[in-house]
Amino acid sequence: MLSELTRTGPGTLNGRFMRTFWHPIARVKDLPAGRAKPLRIMGEDFTLYRGEGGAVHLLAFRCAHRGTQLSTGWVEGDDLRCFYHGWKYDGSGQCVEQPAEPEPFCARIKIRSYPVEEYLGLIFGYFGEGDPPPLMRYTEFEDESRGYTDTITSTTPCNLFNIVDNDPIHIYFVHSTFNASQGRADIPRVSCEETDFGYIATAADSVGSWIYNCYMPNMVHGRRDGSPKGEAIQWRVPIDDENVLNIGVNLIYLYGDEADAYRARTNRGNPAEFSRRVNEVGQRVLAGDLHISEVDDRSLLFNVQDYTAQVGCGSPVDLAHQHLGREDATATILRGMWIRELNALAAGRPLKRWTRPSEPMYLGNDERVPISV
Ligand code: FES
Ligand SMILES: [Fe+2]
Repeated sequence: MLSELTRTGPGTLNGRFMRTFWHPIARVKDLPAGRAKPLRIMGEDFTLYRGEGGAVHLLAFRCAHRGTQLSTGWVEGDDLRCFYHGWKYDGSGQCVEQPAEPEPFCARIKIRSYPVEEYLGLIFGYFGEGDPPPLMRYTEFEDESRGYTDTITSTTPCNLFNIVDNDPIHIYFVHSTFNASQGRADIPRVSCEETDFGYIATAADSVGSWIYNCYMPNMVHGRRDGSPKGEAIQWRVPIDDENVLNIGVNLIYLYGDEADAYRARTNRGNPAEFSRRVNEVGQRVLAGDLHISEVDDRSLLFNVQDYTAQVGCGSPVDLAHQHLGREDATATILRGMWIRELNALAAGRPLKRWTRPSEPMYLGNDERVPISV
């Protein structure tokens, strides 16, 4: 069953499980009105577009006529016209025009469409069968009095399970350059327990403790690294079994001019370009051309550190030949829950209904900033 975890393509057991959840698939600001884009999620291709009136739609990847890629076409009003011979589809996937056809048969042509919802600056999609569950809300991130929020996105060329098993211990090794400046000396004990939404993890060292939350299956809510203080929710969405979309929301505890100055100072520019640079340097480290201690671009270093550790496990990571210990409490709990759910799905038994309290879930008052997500 362990090897099932790393496969999310259509028809796979974990693919069926993952398709019972909503997943963020793009940032709102990356899809302006009147634009269509290709999208790959869990090994399947789709067409994401925003009508001229602002509504977002998610359709099948290919035109039903001769199969060209619909994202290359034209958005017209709330519809999408194919680039090749001009068939037009509405947001439900219904073909509504076949301009070159003397006797149009549009009524018989419908491509698949998928539910989408915009929330917290992200576009979420639902890829499962039937009606989707309600999209989970994260009210901590809706509260503007807590600071300002920004959306983040990057891609990593590895499997989902190279990333979702990430743990607090790695901060003391992988990110030691950043921890040293925060005066952290000892390695924490990690404990973890299943909750109604996933798991809650506590890491405790001689100075104190901190918590973070994992929402099944693929989201982490934790403190964000660095200064100023903040927190983040971040999803790890399989693009396919060799690539992951990291996408989420940063909440920074700053306001007004301070927030503007911080935003300008930390602007990474185009996220695709940032990912490309991180991946390029990380690949040089893995190839032995560069040691991590020789990466002198601090703007890339934190991400290159994660890349090196996670992609360095090989993709897909070989879960069956790992040797987990007590330090791996979070991975042990996560895999245990996940496998239990896959067994239930395979046997046709009901799955756990993951819920969270309706009130905000704050991370406590510990002012330290140790966790990377
Ligand atoms: S392939 Fe789309 S209209 Fe012909
Ligand atoms: Fe990290």
